[in-house]
Amino acid sequence: MNNTQRITALGLVLAVFAAWALLLTSPAQAVTLKNTSVKLPESTRVFPGDSAGAKAANSYCLMCHSVGMVMNQPDLGKAAWLVEVNKMKNAFKAPIPEDQVAIIADYIDSIKGKK
Ligand code: HEC
Repeated sequence: MNNTQRITALGLVLAVFAAWALLLTSPAQAVTLKNTSVKLPESTRVFPGDSAGAKAANSYCLMCHSVGMVMNQPDLGKAAWLVEVNKMKNAFKAPIPEDQVAIIADYIDSIKGKK
C-alpha cells in the first residue's frame, strides 16, 4: 500500500465515521401522541311492539346479539322458533325464565313466521 492508497483508505474510514456520527446525533423523529375517539356503530333496534312477547324478547334476546340476528334469519315455522329459543336458553345459557320461552317463540313467529 503506498501513501496515496493509505490516505484514500483513511479518508474513507473518516467519511463512514462522520456519516455514522451524523446519524447518531440527528434528532430522533418526533412522535406525537394524540387522543382520539372512535364511535362504534350501535344498534338502536328493538323488537317491534309492546306485547308481552315483544317485551320478553327485548329483555332476554338482546343481551348477546342484536335484533338483526333474529330478523336476518329466514322465516321459520312456530315449532322451529321454539327450538331456536330453547337452543338459546339451553345451549347458550340465555337466562330466559321457562314460562317466557313459549311466549317469545309465539311472538317471534308472529313477526318472522312462515306464512
Ligand atoms: C346468552 C347469549 C344469548 C342470548 C341471551 C340469546 N342468544 Fe341467540 N345466539 C347466541 C349466540 C352465541 C349465537 C350465535 C351462534 C352461532 O354463531 O352459531 C346466537 C344466534 C342466534 C340466532 C341465529 C341462528 C342460530 O341458531 O345461530 C337466532 C335466530 C337467535 N340467536 C335468536 C335468539 C333469540 C330469539 C333469543 C331470545 C330468546 C336469543 N337468541 C338470545 C347467544 C344468545
